[in-house]
Amino acid sequence: MGTYAEYKEAFAGLTLPFAFVDVDRLEENIAAITHAAGGKHIRIASKSIRSVGMLNKILEAHPGYRGVMCYTAAEAVFLAAQGLDDLLIGYPQGMSSSIDRLLDWIADGRTISFMVDCVEHVAELERRAKERGVIVPLCLDLDLSVSYPGLRFGVWRSPLSTWAHMKPVAERITQSAWLILDGLMGYEAQIAGVGDNAPGTAMRNGLIRWLKKRAITEVSRRREEAVRGIEELGVKLRFVNAGGTGSLDSSGQEPWVTELTAGSGFYSPGLFDNYKSFRYQPAAGYAIEIVRRPSEDIVTCLGGGYTASGAAGADKLPKPYLPEGLSLLPLEGAGEVQTPLRCPKSVRLGIGDPVFFRHAKAGELCERFPVLYAVSKGELVGQYVTYRGMGECFL
Ligand SMILES: Cc1ncc(COP(=O)(O)O)c(C=O)c1O
Repeated sequence: MGTYAEYKEAFAGLTLPFAFVDVDRLEENIAAITHAAGGKHIRIASKSIRSVGMLNKILEAHPGYRGVMCYTAAEAVFLAAQGLDDLLIGYPQGMSSSIDRLLDWIADGRTISFMVDCVEHVAELERRAKERGVIVPLCLDLDLSVSYPGLRFGVWRSPLSTWAHMKPVAERITQSAWLILDGLMGYEAQIAGVGDNAPGTAMRNGLIRWLKKRAITEVSRRREEAVRGIEELGVKLRFVNAGGTGSLDSSGQEPWVTELTAGSGFYSPGLFDNYKSFRYQPAAGYAIEIVRRPSEDIVTCLGGGYTASGAAGADKLPKPYLPEGLSLLPLEGAGEVQTPLRCPKSVRLGIGDPVFFRHAKAGELCERFPVLYAVSKGELVGQYVTYRGMGECFL
């Protein structure tokens, strides 16, 4: 299933370029992620999905799926209006006017929690909560990066790396009549988001695996310390959120963790091919059209330059996917309007033929297309409208 010939035939009536999702593979990924979570609840990282229809499909797939980790307050307002509930805003939101709209949703009975990591965040949300007369749930973001001399293995997000750092912020929340300490989140980006089986870099892979192994112990120790510290303040947390697609197995081992976050694994984009401990099915991608043949061994497509965010590097380029054997040219990469591909003699392609690509990341694909066309068992079976397709663009 999912060969070039099958996709070409299934999508034959569509105008190129377009994006697609292979529903059978997606369902395999949903089942595999459910299994990897080992019975813990799974919160869906919406940044890696960016389609309301798709969020609902995953949420409905298994009772283990509970709630959404949103990436902006404006997005959460939009999702609340679409009927979604249990929304955790995964990142601090500054002065966004959408926060007030979310407070109104809380007043209407929705479960929405805001991420904080300093007293300034807490004070701003308290001010707004008081102004609107709403009690607001907050989630503390625990930094889980690990530092070695000359190396920070992790990301720069929360300054709260230990319970000693976190305690004053937690106490500030518990002392407020307008706030509830609702949750604790720790995202071990260096385990969940860093591949350790990338092609051609055996030494680097070995080093990353070693660093990850050590980090898992440290992450678990710091998270437990924070959970115990919060308990000692007399707070019963509604949730302790951990990890991402790349750390389901390790984050799920911690007994104090109540839920895991997953997003990327559902579409399983290019960067998620590079993990030793799991491999999900390539379930989403896009198709562009061959419009030129500048030489015997090169075909040139219209568009296709959908490079992923993050530290710039070849790993952020989209991957030519089907037919197999095509490759990007190092001096051109994936272009804004033209993408040339080296095409081996064994692959017979002509002007008008589609080439299927996979994005390096999951959700960013949906910023380029209004819908993901859905294919199942070799047939076009419908479509999932993306945020863009609904006229929305949050980041
Ligand atoms: C706070 C947080 N949790 C979890 C994730 C994991 O998401 P995914 O499963 O899409 O990699 C991310 C991704 O960046 C994140 O920022």
